[in-house]
Amino acid sequence: MRKPIIAGNWKMNNTAAQGVELVNAIKPLVKDAQCDVVVCVPFTDIPAVSEAVKGSNVHLGAQNVHFAEKGAYTGEISAAMLKEFGVEYVIIGHSERRQYFGETDETVNKRMHAALAAGLIPIVCVGESLEERESGKTESVLDVQIREGLKGLDDVSKIVIAYEPVWAIGTGKTATAEQANETIAFIRKTCAEVFCPKCAGKVRIQYGGSMNAKNCKELMAMPEIDGGLIGGASLKAEDFSAIVHYDR
Ligand code: 13P
Repeated sequence: MRKPIIAGNWKMNNTAAQGVELVNAIKPLVKDAQCDVVVCVPFTDIPAVSEAVKGSNVHLGAQNVHFAEKGAYTGEISAAMLKEFGVEYVIIGHSERRQYFGETDETVNKRMHAALAAGLIPIVCVGESLEERESGKTESVLDVQIREGLKGLDDVSKIVIAYEPVWAIGTGKTATAEQANETIAFIRKTCAEVFCPKCAGKVRIQYGGSMNAKNCKELMAMPEIDGGLIGGASLKAEDFSAIVHYDR
């Protein structure tokens, strides 16, 4: 009942020309996908990739958005600027932004509301660090990230949540399918408490962290996992397409 969503997060990779080349290679490979397919590209790639995906089933996403409508925020990009180029999704609160750029649950919350107000679908990232997992704090960390990060949201199914354990990102260390499923079940349970059971049943929750062509089938077979947010493996058309076709 929840349509799976496979999204590539290109991070700071691909110039506009390289991005067009990649997406042109992806398009024919995913044209009959059963899931939603999204590429989240660097800001400067957006105009060219937006043209390149026209008429295809590949949806366009950005990797961040500022919370103000406009104004004196040097270096930032507003939701309207993204919408102008047909962006539909935006990653918010990725752990790299939390770790390197001072992103907090409060700024995540503001960005999420700005994105929704403009008609963008936020992909809000949550996840624990290795230290937090090893000291048994995973659930309490996620609980705070959900309660604070998603504060004021009327219906959680308006967003996509990406569960990305920080220790699994770019490390080649994937959470086991059982670990990911169990943690996502906890996130859904928390959403049911904070929002409502019905919308918690509808919200799509992705797994992210070293997901690849080999492990995607097992992860996606889990009942709570509704998709993937893919870093490294989204930079090669064949690998990304293999994940999109996880059920083959
Ligand atoms: P990797 O797939 O490279 O581990 O990155 C995951 C990620 O951070 C996606 O947002």
